[in-house]
Amino acid sequence: MTSELGRLIARRIALAGPIPVADFMAEALGHPRLGYYRKALPLGQAGDFTTAPEISQMFGELLGAWLAERWQAMGRPSPCLLVELGPGRGVLLVDALRATRAVPGFHAALQIHLVEINEALRDLQRTALTAHTPVWHERFDDVPAGPMLLIANEFFDALPVRQFQRTPAGWAERMIGLADRDDETLRFALAPGPSPFGALLPQAAEPGAAAELSPAATSLATAIGARLAENGGWALLIDYGRDASGLGLSLQAVRSHRGVDVLDRPGETDLSAHVDFEAVAAAATVAGARILGPVGQGCFLRRLGIQWRAETLKARATPSQALAIDAALDRLIAPDQMGTLFRVLALGDRASTLPDGFSDPPPDTP
Ligand SMILES: C[S@@+](CC[C@H](N)C(=O)[O-])C[C@H]1O[C@@H](n2cnc3c(N)ncnc32)[C@H](O)[C@@H]1O
Repeated sequence: MTSELGRLIARRIALAGPIPVADFMAEALGHPRLGYYRKALPLGQAGDFTTAPEISQMFGELLGAWLAERWQAMGRPSPCLLVELGPGRGVLLVDALRATRAVPGFHAALQIHLVEINEALRDLQRTALTAHTPVWHERFDDVPAGPMLLIANEFFDALPVRQFQRTPAGWAERMIGLADRDDETLRFALAPGPSPFGALLPQAAEPGAAAELSPAATSLATAIGARLAENGGWALLIDYGRDASGLGLSLQAVRSHRGVDVLDRPGETDLSAHVDFEAVAAAATVAGARILGPVGQGCFLRRLGIQWRAETLKARATPSQALAIDAALDRLIAPDQMGTLFRVLALGDRASTLPDGFSDPPPDTP
């Protein structure tokens, strides 16, 4: 049994033919009524996944300190846009703003802009950030121009990817069609001829090899990079992904914290793909931005002093709270948890000094 959205997609395919994987992903996540990110509350223990800011306050606090330092490096512009793409429950910004209350002039300069398509999450963000009067947008392009600090944690991985397979005739696009014309069962198929996108993929790949491209991710990186180059500012993109473009498919589906089939019950299942940080960085560079990273999330957070922050919190904690702080620290920075798979990329203007977190050796463990 598929979902209501699965039936709609099947009807569209029956009428108009197979669709690219990126179109399927865009519908499954963003369909105005039935898309996964349009519906109530995907995050947290009761939802489908848990993100770094939901694991510990330390994550948002350290990112807040990084942002405040960048604001000073930019020459303390006022106003300064603080933009978050896909703020979830607003936890990251709440922690970041609490941690930077004492930075003179910082909060007074900030105008908060949130890019969010989920109404239920917008309500939670409104409650969490009420003191800071945020403004919401459907798309980054709607955010006004100006000096900008931007955060995107686990946002780029939800942007649609196109998939390709190498054939003797060249790179053909992987499509989604129907198992049978009268059936609602979705299945992968291959476009009959080579794709023009093939020119962007490795020409020496063997038949059978597969690859992904995300035009949505690179065009967003271009837009952010161009804004930073023109108006000044810094952006931190944090996501799971790979540093170098290459072969392989990464699109995956998660429901209730478990991996499921990508085509299973669209609209009720989270879909995400590894971010190609090389492609994102190249797009932002061409648009005029300076690039630092990507570095592993563990390395980045250690350079910002997460272990010292954990010690400070533990000094005021009960024994069970201290154990929870250690467990959260491990989850955020250990190489076999989020520390290596999650990458941190900074984009910035060319006028400010370089930021923390990208080149200094990590401080000794306290
Ligand atoms: C995986 S969650 C991450 C939430 C938050 N950044 C965190 O780390 O907890 C993705 C967020 O992006 C939002 N989102 C997903 N696709 C979007 C899109 N195309 N435009 C705007 N927001 C989107 C979701 O509603 C959600 O708030």
